[in-house]
Amino acid sequence: ASHVRAVGSAEHPVVIAHRGASAYAPENTLAAVDKAASLGIGWVENDVQRTNDGELVVVHDDSLARTTDVEQVFPDRAPWKVKDFTAAEIARLDAGSWFGSGYAGTRVPTLEQYLRRVEAHHQKLLLEIKNPELYPGIERQILKVLANEGWLDRAHVGGRLVVQSFNADSLRTVHELKPGIRTGFLGRPAVADLPAYARFTDLVNPSATSLSLGYVAAVHAVTGPHGRPLGVFTWTVDDAAGARRVAGYGVNGVITNKPDVVRDALKGR
Ligand code: G3P
Ligand code: CA
Repeated sequence: ASHVRAVGSAEHPVVIAHRGASAYAPENTLAAVDKAASLGIGWVENDVQRTNDGELVVVHDDSLARTTDVEQVFPDRAPWKVKDFTAAEIARLDAGSWFGSGYAGTRVPTLEQYLRRVEAHHQKLLLEIKNPELYPGIERQILKVLANEGWLDRAHVGGRLVVQSFNADSLRTVHELKPGIRTGFLGRPAVADLPAYARFTDLVNPSATSLSLGYVAAVHAVTGPHGRPLGVFTWTVDDAAGARRVAGYGVNGVITNKPDVVRDALKGR
């Protein structure tokens, strides 16, 4: 289906704000989306998990302890797993004070709230399905929220959505349910295995530490499920030299906590 657009290019890799502009605002919050927008960054990355009562929320760790005040609010609920709290309980938590007092009162967003903010800024979204093995059926549920919020149209027509995961089964499920959505596998499959991944993933997204010129070329040499060469988004690159290195390898996108630094490093290449 050639209507599914390519994303980024070796000449012009896209810059993706990792968990939002997370060097400058608390990760995976609306404030981090706003910060990316104010820096003029067109792509944000997030992490989606599920509450005890089935709400989709944007948070990275499987525990709430690192990025919220959950230990103070619910001292008896160790180890404070996302899946053990209701949406109403999570809505009471402060997800900003740990980062800086200026962010006190910042909340853990629901996926719906998050999508609306990204849309308000006309940004593009790299949505990570985090720990899907903990949340059976989460793929179908995410697709339903995306559909309700108009994001499937944006995905198809505008090329504004990529769904990624470290879990290949989860991506295969997304591809089977909605073949028009672009997907990205987080990891670095052996070159011999790339054609098998290319049945269900459009991008291969390896850690920058594991990347080489040869590997990027090997990925680009394989055709993905929408008839285009597989792409590469790499993570997490926060310095100018690193950004120029991976851009020199020909990656399609750079995932970074400091999107302004990476954008400026890649200017005028
Ligand atoms: O987008 C790539 C990166 O987010 C994967 O690692 O742990 O930050 O979700 P992590
Ligand atoms: Ca992530």
